[in-house]
This record gives sequence, structure tokens and C-alpha cells, in this order.
Amino acid sequence: MHRESGSRSLLIKHAAEIVTNTGTAAKKGAGMNQLAKIEDGAILVKEGIIEWVGLTADLPFYNEENTEIIDASGCSVIPGFVDSHTHFVFGGYRPEEFFWRLDGTPYLDILERGGGILNTVKATQSMGYDAMLQIASNRLDAMVAMGVTTVEGKSGYGLDLDTELRQLKVMGELNNRHAVEVVPTFMGAHAVPPEYRGRVDDYVAFITQKVLPAVVEQGIAEFCDAFCEKGVFSVEQTRKILQTASGLGLKTKIHADEIVSFGGAELAAELGAISADHLLQASDKGIAEMAARGVVATVLPMTAFCLREEYARARAMIDSGGAIALATDYNPGSCFSHSIPMLIALAAIQLKLSPAEILTALTLNGAAAVGRADHIGTLERGKQGDILILKYPSHLFLSYHVGMDIIDKVIKKGQVIVDKRMANLEVIDSE
Ligand code: NIG
Ligand code: FE
Repeated sequence: MHRESGSRSLLIKHAAEIVTNTGTAAKKGAGMNQLAKIEDGAILVKEGIIEWVGLTADLPFYNEENTEIIDASGCSVIPGFVDSHTHFVFGGYRPEEFFWRLDGTPYLDILERGGGILNTVKATQSMGYDAMLQIASNRLDAMVAMGVTTVEGKSGYGLDLDTELRQLKVMGELNNRHAVEVVPTFMGAHAVPPEYRGRVDDYVAFITQKVLPAVVEQGIAEFCDAFCEKGVFSVEQTRKILQTASGLGLKTKIHADEIVSFGGAELAAELGAISADHLLQASDKGIAEMAARGVVATVLPMTAFCLREEYARARAMIDSGGAIALATDYNPGSCFSHSIPMLIALAAIQLKLSPAEILTALTLNGAAAVGRADHIGTLERGKQGDILILKYPSHLFLSYHVGMDIIDKVIKKGQVIVDKRMANLEVIDSE
């Protein structure tokens, strides 16, 4: 799915509803439950940017010859989804581990025995650039088909200089040539490689003194993330890595409190990280500090589901005034899925989030979690034309049509990049 640059404008009109949403920063607390909407709405996109949104009846003059027109009768129109936490660039698969875990072997025990992430590291290290680019591009195609218009991706399956750089360069090339926008995150502190076993501080020194400076010099990452977890990287080691990254100009994220309550949420607040992610075991103190400091809590319920762990306390996070984003965590181990419909189903049924909270968490707040809320995440004048047309008249169907893909068209920067041509069929069907 290649990027096309066209100067044609796009007009969507007669949408049953346009969920415009509003804002250029993450919505917090009760604000997450407020959605701005327009009935019988229209939206005009010129050169990739939204020029006008309003009632179809109020549509201003536009040049018909140079405009692609979509009649969205019977359809809901919403902002493109932002999958703000994935590990989509990897080699190999680990199907057997999925069943070991179901049989009761804990995730961290598999890693401790040299499996888990370290298995994927071996397969990724031996994968060349072209093969990595191709497979990652295919995965992006599948993600876009589910309505994802911006994807964050992490390195961290290299754990050596060359492979970490290769993963990030693949993401950079995909950002330039694939229709979807890719946000690259350096995550060299994803696991401790076998050659540094028992010498974690030496590996941290390697990351901070050698790999991070090379990543920053090449300008191939925007964020730095680390797996702050018992038996992986301690709070002190994570602090050191993220402070170094921040000093070099990268924004920060943390894999925090995923398996045990470990102080990751508190560290994210202390460092002013953009987001802290997972948070299944985040403490009350950590939740309160993140809300107070404006750290986006990125909740990944598909991972909790796959690991058969308790879900993150998303309601408590919102009710304490915090902002949450929802993301897939797509990776070959803890959650081998990029299913947005499944993510939404878990958010509604297990996390008890409202349709408005879910939509905001997957759009504006996801955009904030990747530092892009100023130009994506809502459908307002001046923002990028990243738009989804659903085959039902209300965004409520995202949760209600459980586990189903209801995307009809995906539009990135005003260009239709996926068209399932299902919307009109649904309208006819329901009449
Ligand atoms: O977010 N916990 C660390 N990293 C990933 C899993 C990576 C893997 O198992 O390959 C996660 O769950
Ligand atoms: Fe992750």
C-alpha cells in the first residue's frame, strides 16, 4: 500500500454523523466522555488538510471537477485510529509459547529461560533489511485495513547495535513510502541479551553510551521506551536510560507495571514521560501521580487477555482525572494480534469504558501518546485528513457489533487508501 500524492480534494457529504471530537491535547477524566458530533455532516479535505467541516446544508463553494465526492449516507465518519503501542517489526514467530502460557508457565519464566523476547531477538538478528521491510510493510497493510492511520513501532528485537538500527531504519523507510504514518521508538532496553546475562548495568552502559547516541545521531527515533519490570530493568536502570534519552532529545515512554507492581507508573510521572503503558499492576499512588503530571496511561487489554492477567484499572485512571489511550501491543509474544475490533470489545466489556471514551482513547489520546495531537486525532479544520467511514450510522456500532470489522473506507491525508465498498450494501440491507 504505497503513498500516493494527489492534489485532488475530497468531499464527504451526508454522513449520518461526523464524530469530529475536539482538541489538540489528550482529553482527561470526565472530558473523555464528551464527543462533538454533527448530523448530516460534510467534510472537505484539500491537499491532505481538513479545510471545512459542518452541516451538508451549509457546504461552501468547492470546485467539483477537482474533487472526489463520497456520499456517506447511512455512515458514521470518525477520525483515523492511532495504534500508539506496537512491536510490528520482528522476525520469526513463537506459537508454542502461547500454549505453554495457557498450560501455566508464566511469561517472565519463559524469558528467564532464554525464550520469549530472546527467541524473537535471534530470528530478528538474522533477518536482512529487505525481508524485514517487506514483512513489516505487509503487516502495516493489515493494520490499515482495520482503520489504523498512524502506527507507533518499537525496536527492541535486536539488542545489538546493527539490528536495533536496522529495525528503526525499516520503520523510517515505511514512514516515507507506506500510506500509514509510522512513529519510531527505540527500545534497546526490551530485554537483557544473553551475552550480558548477570551484567545488566554493563548492558545499560552499552545502551546509553553506544546505541542511544548512534540512534540520535542518525535521527531515526522519536521516542525511547524501556521494559521496567522485575528481573528485566530496575527502576534505577530505567531512569538512567530514559534520562539519557531525554538529554539527547528523545521523548520517553515506559513499559510499566505489566507483570508486577514495580514503581513504573511513579517513575513515568517523575520523569514526565509522554506515556506509561500496560499498567496492569499500577499502584493507586502511581495512577494518581500520572494523572497529576499529565502522563497518558496507555492501556493494552489484549495483552492482559492473552496473558490471562487482571486488566489495567482503566476506570480508576479516568475517574482520577487521568487520560488513557488504547493500543494493541501487537507483538509475536504476549499479544500476537493487531485486531482493533477485539481491542474495542475488551475495552467496552472488560474495562467498562463508554463508546466516547473508547473513541477518544483510540484517536485523540493515541495521537497525544505519540506526540501528534496537534495535527491528528480529531476532524477539525487545519488537522490532517485522516478519516474513517464506518458502514453503520453511529460510532456506537464499534462496540455493539462485537468483535466485527465495520470499517468501510480508510482515508489518509485526504486519499482513500482502503475501500471495502460495504457501506452502501449495509444501507440497502437495513432499509
Ligand atoms: O509489551 N513486555 C514486553 N514487551 C512486549 C512483549 C514482547 C514479546 O513478548 O515479544 C509487551 O508485552
Ligand atoms: Fe509492548
